[in-house]
Amino acid sequence: MPETSHPRQKLVVLISGNGSNLQAILDACAGRALAAQVVAVISNKIDAYGLERARRAGIPAIYHPKPKDQDRRAYDAGLAQVVSAYRPDWVVLAGWMRVLSAEFLNHFPNRVINLHPALPGMFPGTHAIQRAFEAYQRGEIEFTGVMVHLVPDEGVDVGPVLLQATAPIHVHDTLETLEDRIHAIEHRLLVQALALVTQTAKTKS
Ligand code: GRF
Repeated sequence: MPETSHPRQKLVVLISGNGSNLQAILDACAGRALAAQVVAVISNKIDAYGLERARRAGIPAIYHPKPKDQDRRAYDAGLAQVVSAYRPDWVVLAGWMRVLSAEFLNHFPNRVINLHPALPGMFPGTHAIQRAFEAYQRGEIEFTGVMVHLVPDEGVDVGPVLLQATAPIHVHDTLETLEDRIHAIEHRLLVQALALVTQTAKTKS
């Protein structure tokens, strides 16, 4: 079936920082490795370099901070309105550092995808790479990894896994060399997972 017969699936990407995973998605879409299109990038941090990456790609780059006095569920409801306006097929959490409540997730049932730099059931939450590195040094683990999973509810980094990959840890690794290895795996795995869900969805439609 020629590409033109299927409109590209729309992605809204949420970021909080550098946006290297966002960049991997943008590059894959531009290079046609991913039959999707990023229609907006939203960050809760004004200095997130990922917003600059979006601007350079000519994509709406939206800063959406949480006011200090605002209840997190009210913030999530407002964020859902901003995201919904773009009518995304998928909402991708790529280095997004806030836990999202049902007030957000219920607007996008089975369509929120998260990237987490650890294997299922290991190191949920922040600083996962550092915690894995320290566990390795204590002799508790021999390797770590990355997973891409759905976010059906408020569970943190525990949703149904779409793809996962192991990341070796070497005896001479520093935290930085391990982080670099893991980020390279993230960039590849996230694009592969998005290719999976956008292709699967296409064949269904
Ligand atoms: C990545 O390890 C991501 O999984 C984590 O933040 C790191 C930076 O991601 N949540 P990015 O460069 O901002 O995409």
